[in-house]
Amino acid sequence: MLDYDSEADHYDLTRGGDARAAAAATAIEELLPGGARVLADIACGTGIVTSRLAGPGRRVVGVDQSSGMLAVARTRVDVVRGDALALPFADGSLDAVTMIWLLHLLRPDTATAAVREARRVLRPGGLLITTVGKNDAAFATGCDVAAVLNPVREAHLGAPSDALDRVAQGFAVAGRTGFAGVGQGRSPRAWAEKLVTDGYGWARRVPAADLAELGVRLAALPEQDRARPDPVYTLVALSK
Ligand SMILES: C[S@@+](CC[C@H](N)C(=O)[O-])C[C@H]1O[C@@H](n2cnc3c(N)ncnc32)[C@H](O)[C@@H]1O
Repeated sequence: MLDYDSEADHYDLTRGGDARAAAAATAIEELLPGGARVLADIACGTGIVTSRLAGPGRRVVGVDQSSGMLAVARTRVDVVRGDALALPFADGSLDAVTMIWLLHLLRPDTATAAVREARRVLRPGGLLITTVGKNDAAFATGCDVAAVLNPVREAHLGAPSDALDRVAQGFAVAGRTGFAGVGQGRSPRAWAEKLVTDGYGWARRVPAADLAELGVRLAALPEQDRARPDPVYTLVALSK
């Protein structure tokens, strides 16, 4: 996992900023019942999404383990430092828990434990609203870059930690929507650079010769510097 303490200063700028956060918050609101009054945003990061969820009649608190991210979040919303695996809330005390872009970062067994912990703090009928299949989004756009990368990716991909069937265990799926990762669509050239520098986990499992071949195929695509469509992240509401 990235060192989020050192990411904090440039996190918002490099993750779609206000436009992405507003899209995520709108999608969360779509899934939240009107009566949700006490909500915790787990892995709140800089609070750029969290702060948009607060409003009249609703108390929102952000939880994160990174003091750097929390230093930014604290300027926007109430926060508490904590671990998704040991939340600082009583059993059954929350109407809703949100987890945006967390579970895909965790090992599969840790993601399962984080979901179990969210379930503990939710009241009966409360909702866990979380992204699922986060890393699939960039490859589901149907564009030419996705067509080049996806077959190789799928051949080398393990089961994602945030797969819906893993995450939803013990819950009922109550809703589903999506939000755009505004500004996150990459050009062929940017994809080629990403794959050989700080690439994805699956790219590290691709033999060097095959990775080089991918680079050649990406370089052959037209409009090398035109960003392809933004990914659309899937968000689900799971009812306890
Ligand atoms: C990709 S960022 C997402 C931030 C925010 N949800 C957003 O959408 O902007 C992931 C966040 O998860 C936090 N995180 C990772 N593991 C955690 C854990 N076990 N408990 C609490 N926070 C965690 C990181 O510190 C980081 O702030």
